[in-house]
Amino acid sequence: MYDKFNRKITYLRVSVTDRCNLRCTYCMPECGVDLMSHKDILSFEEILEVIHFAVKNGVQKIRITGGEPLVRRGIVDLVRMISDIKGIRDFGLTTNGTLLDQFAKPLADAGLHRVNISLDSLDPVRYRSITRIGDITSVIHGIDAAIEADLQPIKINCVIKSSPMEEDAQAVAKFCHEKGLEVRFIKEMDLEAGHFSQVIGGDGGNCKMCNRLRLTADGKLKPCLFSDLEFDVRELGIEQAFSRAIGLKPKSGTENKINKFSNIGG
Ligand code: 5AD
Ligand code: SF4
Repeated sequence: MYDKFNRKITYLRVSVTDRCNLRCTYCMPECGVDLMSHKDILSFEEILEVIHFAVKNGVQKIRITGGEPLVRRGIVDLVRMISDIKGIRDFGLTTNGTLLDQFAKPLADAGLHRVNISLDSLDPVRYRSITRIGDITSVIHGIDAAIEADLQPIKINCVIKSSPMEEDAQAVAKFCHEKGLEVRFIKEMDLEAGHFSQVIGGDGGNCKMCNRLRLTADGKLKPCLFSDLEFDVRELGIEQAFSRAIGLKPKSGTENKINKFSNIGG
């Protein structure tokens, strides 16, 4: 599948929930967000149908996101069913890491290839203040479990205010170096204001090279993180939703006034 700027679409990010067990200041208000209603959340069957269609049409890379994907009930079963789909070359999941201690091994056994873990500070007090309720110890244990389960290459996502030279970012970089993990620095973005830049050490934010589509937990196919465009797979059917999302994928991102990071998965 090619869009009208000749970008080949090979990557689908699948948000499986808008819920999260943390409240990162740059992602959610303290009181949480208006949650999607249960009936709007795609069932595993529906998610699998969308992924099947995508893979049949050239998508080779799938990433599970949230919210926090590990809070979705049955996530290991979903991962197993996705990993059974022939044609997926790269199957990853983005997590805040707090539940990985318990989930890393079952996820690896279910066929997940690798994980990206969010970690903005190693200082317990700073970590708590960024996530409002998080405990850094749980993430460190989660990272160790991911290493143990060989969910490699493990990438650490570190949100920065403006520069990778910031104290928190430097500490995270050193930690990653010592543990043999890759680190990517993501400048704090503002969806509504359309503020975004390229991920340092990653591919996100590079519009010219963008190969991705996103599926929200309630079944909206989004051609661009920084756009209000979305196509409902239930309303339109999967094929039409893909054809419109790809046909209208913007040349570059502008702004997104209708989504939050918590429901589009970064
Ligand atoms: N700016 C940059 N990155 C963000 N994430 C969530 N909200 C923002 C934001 N406003 C990142 C998280 C995580 C990924 C899922 O998205 O840090 O690594
Ligand atoms: Fe949860 Fe991730 Fe948002 Fe933090 S950034 S509140 S971990 S979804």
